[in-house]
Amino acid sequence: MKIGIIGSGNMGRSLGILWAEQGHEVFFGSRDAEKGKATAEFAGRGTQGGTNDQAAAFADLILWTVRNIMPKQLLSHPEVLDSKIIIDCNNQDIPEGFAYPPIVESLAEKLAQDIPQARVVKAFNTMAQEVFELAPEPLKDYGVSVFVAGDDEQARKTVMGLAEEIGFLAVDSGVLRNARLVEGLEDFIRLIIGGQKQGVYATISVNVLPTASEQRLGGRQASSLK
Ligand SMILES: NC(=O)c1ccc[n+]([C@@H]2O[C@H](COP(=O)([O-])OP(=O)(O)OC[C@H]3O[C@@H](n4cnc5c(N)ncnc54)[C@H](OP(=O)(O)O)[C@@H]3O)[C@@H](O)[C@H]2O)c1
Repeated sequence: MKIGIIGSGNMGRSLGILWAEQGHEVFFGSRDAEKGKATAEFAGRGTQGGTNDQAAAFADLILWTVRNIMPKQLLSHPEVLDSKIIIDCNNQDIPEGFAYPPIVESLAEKLAQDIPQARVVKAFNTMAQEVFELAPEPLKDYGVSVFVAGDDEQARKTVMGLAEEIGFLAVDSGVLRNARLVEGLEDFIRLIIGGQKQGVYATISVNVLPTASEQRLGGRQASSLK
């Protein structure tokens, strides 16, 4: 798959290298073509680097790592994104004292509004960069969840595949509106990491447990609460 990275920072560099290791063709885009090229040089494995415009034109799938900067602001020809899969890995900035406001519109929905012909998928926002350093092994031994939300089912499946390839357990999280919950989940994880001092390797894994062999507590009864 041809993957374009918009913004060659921590997330772009880390995921770009991991996908290049899996045999994907990766192009690192940047505001500064020289920085994109330097990132490709660091990454090796036949990766290329240059401008964000070049990355967007090159790829079938794009990783959008620039928070709150919209394609129409950043790209000369945002229409090159039409029909492409755009992964939004962004989170809002951490507010003072981790006092996050409620999310009434996710960053991913905002991105999708700017490029309505593209297929935006929320993913890879719920773990710190340090977790990617463990990928794909020993990460795969820990079953860390990647929550994948987007309106296009095929696009969700593609992104879930990219997550599994590098050692995560993908969790189909439904439509793009659910990105509000996925972004809120990361706010909570960052509270645990920073506010509660669990550190950057604190993650979340969804476990589906086996059915209890007996209902010795009486089982689930109908609730009378409204
Ligand atoms: N780091 C993590 O642990 C982590 C984990 C999960 C999610 N996230 C989220 O992922 C996103 C990226 O995080 P990051 O750690 O990769 O940040 P980062 O290292 O700062 O990289 C972001 C990149 O955005 C580009 N950029 C910055 N300001 C810009 C502007 N005004 N216009 C256009 N491009 C600009 C820069 O790329 P160029 O200089 O190459 O243009 C920069 O390297 C954030 O929303 C963050 O919350 C981060």
